[in-house]
Amino acid sequence: METLNNYLSKYKGFVFAKGETTAEYIDSLQHFEIRDSDVFLVTYPKSGTIWTQNIINLICEDATDKTQFPNNPEKMPWLEYPKGRADYSLRSSPRFFTTHLTPRLMPPGLRGKKGKIVYVVRNPKDNAVSYYHFSKVWAKLEKYKSFENFLEQYLTGNVGGSSWFDHIQEWHSEGDQYNILFLSYEDMVMDLRTAVEKVCKFLGKNLDDVAITHVVEKATFKNMKKDPKANYEFIPRDLLLKPQFMRKGTIGDWKNTFTVAQNEMFDQIFKERMKDFPLNFIWDLDN
Ligand code: PPS
Repeated sequence: METLNNYLSKYKGFVFAKGETTAEYIDSLQHFEIRDSDVFLVTYPKSGTIWTQNIINLICEDATDKTQFPNNPEKMPWLEYPKGRADYSLRSSPRFFTTHLTPRLMPPGLRGKKGKIVYVVRNPKDNAVSYYHFSKVWAKLEKYKSFENFLEQYLTGNVGGSSWFDHIQEWHSEGDQYNILFLSYEDMVMDLRTAVEKVCKFLGKNLDDVAITHVVEKATFKNMKKDPKANYEFIPRDLLLKPQFMRKGTIGDWKNTFTVAQNEMFDQIFKERMKDFPLNFIWDLDN
């Protein structure tokens, strides 16, 4: 791994949190055996990962032994971080994983539509603001002097997860090789029930209306914020300085942070980098 600074390292073009994984472990994923029943949640950081993790867990509650895993990240671990993980080949099916990786670092067995991938994308302005705030409460992230400072790094892909632009483009352009469901954070905010129904259908889970209502209720921002497990409050305070995984949970918060100049610069870069991208993004609740 190439060290970028005190917080980040790079391997095969992807930026990782420093010290959290190794080149050998990332390479070992090339031999990770995929099962048809595997489910992977893939996101760029701060795109609604923990939210969707909770939704998938609630939908598939019957499929796993509730007593086996104390919390969602144990049940649906981050694929790229080996620390303290048991041998996944010993896990019973269906297995669930979470990851921020890009296609080329993923187990190749997923290509050819083996296993299932749920990919969640979020508009990059809200994503950047969420990431900036998270950097203040996650001990192992750089403490930026200002949002301007952070934005510069974010736009060059010099943050964990690399470039937002590359992430969505790589996953989208290679999507037809995978059994993948694309969801957007904004669609989830605007119509959570429809998003939950889509995930159920994709995972082949036939939940009745009452069960779907239960999942939706448990996955609202208000209820997840109140739920110490859903809000990841079990993470030690020396790592998560403030239990704030559920911060605002909305669309358009970027307007409270971006200056006019930053917004204009961002729009210009977005236009250039995303010019051939077919999906539209929702930037606030009025559009
Ligand atoms: S991480 O660290 O990458 O796993 O973070 P991630 O979970 O991807 O993203 C955190 C943002 O998701 C918001 N969130 C929600 N929004 C709406 N409804 C629900 N239920 C919900 N759960 C999590 C969370 O508040 C973070 O966004 P911001 O904008 O910072 O509030």
